[in-house]
Amino acid sequence: MSTLHVIDHPLIQHKLTYIRDKHTGTKEFRELVDEVSTLMAFEITRDMPLEEIEIETPVCKAKSKILSGKKIGIVPILRAGLGMVDGVRKLIPAAKVGHVGLYRDPKTLTPVEYYIKLPSDVEERDFIIVDPMLATGGSAVDAIQSLKQRGAKNIKFMCLIASPEGVKAVQRAHPDVDIYTAALDEKLNEQGYIVPGLGDAGDRLFGTK
Ligand code: URA
Repeated sequence: MSTLHVIDHPLIQHKLTYIRDKHTGTKEFRELVDEVSTLMAFEITRDMPLEEIEIETPVCKAKSKILSGKKIGIVPILRAGLGMVDGVRKLIPAAKVGHVGLYRDPKTLTPVEYYIKLPSDVEERDFIIVDPMLATGGSAVDAIQSLKQRGAKNIKFMCLIASPEGVKAVQRAHPDVDIYTAALDEKLNEQGYIVPGLGDAGDRLFGTK
């Protein structure tokens, strides 16, 4: 079973309060999402493997550690996931960025991928899929599936707010994918919004309403 990591660092929780607040305007909302994404990236990369190399400091020869694992791919789910990319990239500047856009066919309920572009070396990378809201889990489950179909093996899912329903859906469909969130909220309402949540993340990021 995959692990749910709720990253309850005080700085993240403080910023998340202002992200949730409906009086926070678009500019500040975008900046706060960016900052929280950077702080979360610090935690999501905690298990990156290291190797020891020999270097010379100005004083002597020394052994010291560098990253040794696979390179990283960041994949935002369109469109709200875009708001988290730059924040993660600040800590992992060499990461390549793919994009995935999906919707569910209202008649068949099957996922339709309307856009996908991933780095060409999918099998050589570990992936972080980003989307601020893990609500029903439908897009997350489908996006993870899209990446797996193209050869991605090691995937983490990162969001700002998760619902219990979304967490369950991802864990059931993809027990190998760990979920990282800044908060686990109470529930989904009838409209599919997370409660208390933050409203529509895409609209708040891009000023559309
Ligand atoms: N998507 C959002 O932007 N907000 C929610 O609360 C649920 C899904």
